[in-house]
Amino acid sequence: MAKILLTGGAGYIGSHTYLALVEAGFDVVILDNFSNSKTDVPNRLQDIAGGSVDVVEGDVLDRAVLDALFADHKIDGVVHFAALKAVGESVQKPLDYMNTNVGGLLNLLAAMDRADVRRIVFSSSATVYGDTNVQPIPEEHARTYTSPYAFTKIAGEQILEQLTDDWAVGILRYFNPVGAHKSAIIGEDPEDIPNNLVPYMAKVATGELAELSVFGDDYDTPDGTGVRDYIHVEDLAEGHVLSLKSLIETGQSHTVNLGTGEGSSVFDVVKAYSDACGLELAYKVTPRRDGDVAVLTARPEKAKTVLGFEARRTLADMCTSSWAWVSGQRKNSR
Ligand code: NAD
Ligand code: WQD
Repeated sequence: MAKILLTGGAGYIGSHTYLALVEAGFDVVILDNFSNSKTDVPNRLQDIAGGSVDVVEGDVLDRAVLDALFADHKIDGVVHFAALKAVGESVQKPLDYMNTNVGGLLNLLAAMDRADVRRIVFSSSATVYGDTNVQPIPEEHARTYTSPYAFTKIAGEQILEQLTDDWAVGILRYFNPVGAHKSAIIGEDPEDIPNNLVPYMAKVATGELAELSVFGDDYDTPDGTGVRDYIHVEDLAEGHVLSLKSLIETGQSHTVNLGTGEGSSVFDVVKAYSDACGLELAYKVTPRRDGDVAVLTARPEKAKTVLGFEARRTLADMCTSSWAWVSGQRKNSR
């Protein structure tokens, strides 16, 4: 069975992908420095999946750690999640973002090359499309950046595109990942006040935050609030399994959007989350947030054609699973 290195595997998307890979029969080793995840995540993964969870605590910037890891494990492919991901913070700390996101990728690729491992799935983002009126967005759309974070994702894609053709690379552009695992044992767990809509609403639902600020209701959208393509993190995780299988089986690279193709407004999400938790969630409308675009939705067809990927879960599933996670409705999934 193929053995996969999951960098950032203790993080939000990485932990869900760990479970999807194990379920698909892959052997997985996680590398994470726990800079943005809790050290109990591996135990939680073990509670869900059984077996023992193979974890190396270390940094993708550390050459010695990577070389030891590739020497100790016969790795067939890598899924690279480890990165810094807060758009606002990237404006304050651009060099940290370049170092971890670009430097970390380069260090990883060099270690893979030394170990003769040339299959990699890369976490990219819809943020590489910048602000565009073309909606839903096809993969061929030009890339442009509006933050240092977005710059690092474009740079990562461009570096991967320069590799020799003995490499097979899966570039996955995620739209807005939300929701939690069906067990309610893992989910998104931000340290600080969340920047993103669903984690913020989750804290309004639990009573930790008083009300949601809706950032603008004067956009050119059906109800005036921003429209996004929310995708359930379990669907996203399954997309990584399909991407890896495709790389291993075909040796061909791909760049695909991972979204549903459906747009939901902020008010749609407030309603869906209120239904999920059975409370009328409080909100007030405030001015637009700097840098926000009106609409961002995926053309999802290429992922279906190339990978056979189709998101199955609804906005209601996303909100229900998020609520189950934050309200502690842990289920024994085995
Ligand atoms: P996350 O912060 O929850 O997970 C990232 C993990 O990487 C964390 O566990 C963190 O401790 C680890 N990490 C960070 N720097 C590291 C380093 N130098 N060495 C080793 N480990 C390190 O983030 P996430 O939401 O799971 O995102 C995963 C990937 O997906 C990132 O590359 C992110 O840019 C990308 N992405 C996320 C979103 C989103 O909305 N969550 C959208 C598009 C793309
Ligand atoms: C969604 C909608 C807000 C919070 C971000 C990154 C992007 C990608 C995914 C990594 C927008 C509105 C939000 C709030 C609100 N990450 N909103 N009140 O900005 O689409 O994407 O995460 O690659 O790069 O930028 O996600 O969840 O922050 O916002 O009204 O308190 O909710 O204006 O319309 P976004 P989000």
